[in-house]
Amino acid sequence: MHVIGGSASTALAERISRELGNAPFGLPFVKRFPDGELYVRVGGRISGDDVVLVQSTRTDQDFLEMILLEDAIREAGAKRLFVVVPYFGYARQDRPFFPGEPVSARAMSRHVELDADGVVTVDLHSSDTLGVFRKPAFEASGIPAIARLLRERPVDLLVSPDKGGVERAKRMAAILDKPWMALEKRRIDSEHVELTLPKELPMSLEGKHLVIVDDVISTGGTIVEAAKLLKRQRAGALAAACTHGLFLRDAFERIKAVCDGLYSTDTLDNPAEKASVAPDIAQILRRDLGAQ
Ligand code: R5P
Repeated sequence: MHVIGGSASTALAERISRELGNAPFGLPFVKRFPDGELYVRVGGRISGDDVVLVQSTRTDQDFLEMILLEDAIREAGAKRLFVVVPYFGYARQDRPFFPGEPVSARAMSRHVELDADGVVTVDLHSSDTLGVFRKPAFEASGIPAIARLLRERPVDLLVSPDKGGVERAKRMAAILDKPWMALEKRRIDSEHVELTLPKELPMSLEGKHLVIVDDVISTGGTIVEAAKLLKRQRAGALAAACTHGLFLRDAFERIKAVCDGLYSTDTLDNPAEKASVAPDIAQILRRDLGAQ
């Protein structure tokens, strides 16, 4: 088996190759033609072998690179191709909100799987998107990775910033054997939210170590508001943890100004303290897709 890391996921791809028993690991050559078109070339002897391609699709260029790499890997004679998309871009538009809009998550899924024998992704915006794949598709969770990291740190209570994240907080709480609570969130616009405490708190928050757990941190608005609210309750220490750390614009600095710790998985490159999802992805590749 070979692992190839697209330019959006080189570090995670290398970690996955180690988890797969030090499978041969390679980086493709990627450049732009003078007219702006993308050029890729894969090296190594992959003919007749299973190949795992790892590439998050945060930008349109990442997506295009993945499509070209899939074709190049097929052209080079790979036996089977498993595509790992750690952060699946466009997944948030999973239904038309207004007439005339596409289901972007479906459109992208169809292209991702075109040359693939199987797909693995991590914490999709909605797990329902797995249903649009025609090839075997699996979703790893970022929760076990974050839990492995939090196990080494003091945690009194896990906090979901909204009702939508309750299952995530519950799962993390079960792994760490800690209580959880969910805030009430009202979105004002794409950058602003209003958060309130639940009617009944599971404990006094004074002096406690609280960890706010979310799937994605984008503008940071949700985490910053949650941290301010919890600080007003005299929380002792605050940390934020997410699977996908996009940290748009100055989100990282704004969160660091109100939180003592900031953790994310390695589905995206960012300056947060990292927990790797490589073991969880490698397990799915071996156990569910039979990669060898
Ligand atoms: C929303 O439903 C998600 O779980 C996140 O809370 C949201 O995407 C975070 O966005 P932002 O960082 O822009 O507040």
